[in-house]
Amino acid sequence: MAGKKTFYVTTPIYYVNDTPHIGHAYTTVAADTLARYKRLKGFDVLFLTGTDEHGQKVEKAASAAGITPLELADRVVMRFKELWKKLNISNDDFIRTTEDRHRIAVKRLWDEAVGRGDIYLGEYEDWYCTPCESFLTGTQLEDGKCPDCRREVEKLREPSYFFRLAGYRERLLTHIGENPGFIRPEARRNEIVSFLEEGLKDLSVSRTTFSWGIPVPDNPDHVIYVWFDALANYLTGAGYPGKMESWPADVHMIGKDILRFHAVYWPAFLMSAGLPLPKKVFAHGWWTVEGRKMSKSLGNVVDPFEIAERYGVDQFRYFLLREVPFGLDGDFSVSALKGRINGELANDLGNLLSRTVAMVEKYRGGEIPRGINSKDKEMEKNIRSRFNPPSGPQIALFDEAMNELRFHDALWRVWELIRGLNAYVENSAPWNLAKTKDEATLSNVLYTLTEGLRITSVYLFPFMPLAAQEIWNQLGIKENIEDCSFDNEAGWGGRDISGLKVKKGASLFPKVE
Ligand code: MSP
Repeated sequence: MAGKKTFYVTTPIYYVNDTPHIGHAYTTVAADTLARYKRLKGFDVLFLTGTDEHGQKVEKAASAAGITPLELADRVVMRFKELWKKLNISNDDFIRTTEDRHRIAVKRLWDEAVGRGDIYLGEYEDWYCTPCESFLTGTQLEDGKCPDCRREVEKLREPSYFFRLAGYRERLLTHIGENPGFIRPEARRNEIVSFLEEGLKDLSVSRTTFSWGIPVPDNPDHVIYVWFDALANYLTGAGYPGKMESWPADVHMIGKDILRFHAVYWPAFLMSAGLPLPKKVFAHGWWTVEGRKMSKSLGNVVDPFEIAERYGVDQFRYFLLREVPFGLDGDFSVSALKGRINGELANDLGNLLSRTVAMVEKYRGGEIPRGINSKDKEMEKNIRSRFNPPSGPQIALFDEAMNELRFHDALWRVWELIRGLNAYVENSAPWNLAKTKDEATLSNVLYTLTEGLRITSVYLFPFMPLAAQEIWNQLGIKENIEDCSFDNEAGWGGRDISGLKVKKGASLFPKVE
């Protein structure tokens, strides 16, 4: 789109040998929240997610299930797509690595590396961890096992193409040094710097012992290493090798376990192809469940479908981004989830809305009054000076928190407003104003509360799109909140709602036992 700034955000593409769990939902909800925010801010957003369908791990899982890898993929892709629909994920595209457009992109990326002299045929002999699809040297093993997942590794000896990764060490260090925002958060960046400082070996980028993958151009005995294939999805999604409007990506959101692939291999592949690097790779932490590592063998894998079904989609989305600072590890527990639902969502926000709507009905026949009384302007002044674009300090802090992916912090800023509005109801006591017939002040209070809620909903939309729309519905605003402009609407007076008819609705966030 001419003149519009683009914003490209990605999630990892998920392996199809597993069904979706909270870890997958986490990154995808975070990316969705950022994508929605950037759309409200007027960006032309490309939000990409998808599935990683090749490799030995998927081949093995399919054969164990007695079906072909593609049949397995088709099945699991459906589950991912259903989950994203359920969680209200607004991805613009869904990439599957078995698609033709992707094969074309991978082949091209490979050919570029060949053209640059970065790929050569050699022999691979070392350890391989199939669950991680990761090559390991003898010194990386811990007690003979994979240092990441602690499972058995296999000895591999086979002809293999290599990528001249070692030659990129200096350039990678320079890039990381010159671009402090490239790898976030800081602790992860330091981790990668130390890894690079220890030295880099060339990377094996093809395999001959199985066939489920994209064949190496001109030598179909080899399939391309699944990570070379998978990482290229970010280019495929942007239109590579055709014209790319959205490249480089603004942010790749990933989990901390796959940082090395994204912060070392991927930039090296891109440099080899002469392409610009993504602006940011952000690695979030891992969830434990009720204090324990989540695993199939413990039987404690959190099914996001079930949680969303039982506790609500927005409640789940809110919890994921509010409970833990993005970047740190955190713990999922039902009691913590319930605490946030009953406290911040039901008490602070849900109650504020239902009380406000009820008072507009009771005192003004359901019509939002005009707020013109001058005796009661403190709250309005407060909101105007802190929240109004472009320079209100609170809006600036919110924007900064969103850009740095400090979602919990962004939410905290909104809750300051919500808490302020709750205190304002108590202090201005509209029920007393009704008794003493101070109609002008009462109108002003009711206007301030409805306007405050409208502003709140604009901030909350990226996090909780359904609840934000429901606030608009109850305030009698007919439009879709997703079509609004953040900069126009996030401050006082962003939309004239006086005269609208409020509409009492179901409780925004019912309490849970
Ligand atoms: N297919 C690769 C990614 C390729 S991207 C070019 C892959 N897939 S995955 O399905 O195994 O994992 C996807 C994501 O889930 C990773 O970012 C990982 O960090 C995340 N999580 C898996 N378990 C998790 C938790 N317990 N908590 C948080 N995230 C977790 O890796």
